[in-house]
Amino acid sequence: MPASTLQSLLPETLAKIEKISDLKTLENLEVEVLGRKGKLTDMLRGIKDLSDDKKKTFGQEANKIKLELESAFAQKRDKLEKKALSEKLKTEIFDITEPGIKPEVGHVHPLSKVQWEVENIFSQMGFAIMDGPEIESEYFNFEGLNIPAHHPARDMQDTFFIDKEHDPKFGKLVLRTHTSPVQVRTMQKYGAPLRIIVPGRVFRYEATDASHDTTFDQVEGLLIDKNISLAHLKGVLEELLTRLFRQKVVVRFRPGYFPFVEPGLEVDFSCLLCEGKGCRVCKHSGWMEFMGAGMVHENVLKSGGIDPKEYQGWAFGFGLTRLVLMRYGIDDIRLLKSSDPRFLEQF
Ligand code: DAH
Repeated sequence: MPASTLQSLLPETLAKIEKISDLKTLENLEVEVLGRKGKLTDMLRGIKDLSDDKKKTFGQEANKIKLELESAFAQKRDKLEKKALSEKLKTEIFDITEPGIKPEVGHVHPLSKVQWEVENIFSQMGFAIMDGPEIESEYFNFEGLNIPAHHPARDMQDTFFIDKEHDPKFGKLVLRTHTSPVQVRTMQKYGAPLRIIVPGRVFRYEATDASHDTTFDQVEGLLIDKNISLAHLKGVLEELLTRLFRQKVVVRFRPGYFPFVEPGLEVDFSCLLCEGKGCRVCKHSGWMEFMGAGMVHENVLKSGGIDPKEYQGWAFGFGLTRLVLMRYGIDDIRLLKSSDPRFLEQF
């Protein structure tokens, strides 16, 4: 009768489980007893011939046995697995002196590296680091900087225009051609006195070659206070370059023209290679061209809402990208934004 077999199934199986010492045999027994074609399923098939009363007790009994067996199998499996693992650890040789697999770690791009260094040096001289939009209005990129529409000075910087509606008061939208627009934005926001640098990406409509790219990085500087002269600018720049290149660097000023400064300057620094004696790199002049600068034009101060009678200051703008090329001796500007690992892995 199924009922008596059902009763003996539990002790019988438990006794077998007890004796088993490997996982494979345990698995076979589990299939034999609890599997789809196993003994217990087989017995349950006979249930249909029983009276309703007996059906109920038989069903309950079978379910109880099933649960008990499942738990017995699980416990035994757990025990055998643990035993197998501890045996494996006993025999396996584990050499703790063997070098591990080195995970690949990325590193900072040379452009960011130099940018961070520049930011550090200026921070220590009390300059705040500012940011501005890369999509700029014509007003901030030009008019606010004393470059009126149709003025020939606009031709100094060719622009990408953005084809999108924009508040006509501020002109069309352009990809900023320099970081100078942040001068006016910051003056309007914070007023004087002011001491800032603005590292950032700029864009020019330009044919690319080894020394020109349509996208490059600049650093703008602006200092506004009372009784400020170009002597302060010279001091700040020599400090910057001497620390950046870890050698004594001297700066010289030449007259230059930029609409947003008066007087305007071109700034050179002593050649790093020959220290001013003259060599191939500096074309035998002893000097490297560095940047534009000057005393902030009063129209620009006015755009920024600052009274030129009370405050004055200087501004400068240099190519961070060019500085990186010089610092690492890179001979093609296009490599910097190429994302080519053969180039990047050298830094
Ligand atoms: N914005 C100029 C350029 O991109 C560089 C420059 C020159 C910035 C003179 C200045 C400055 O702040 O005073 O060519």
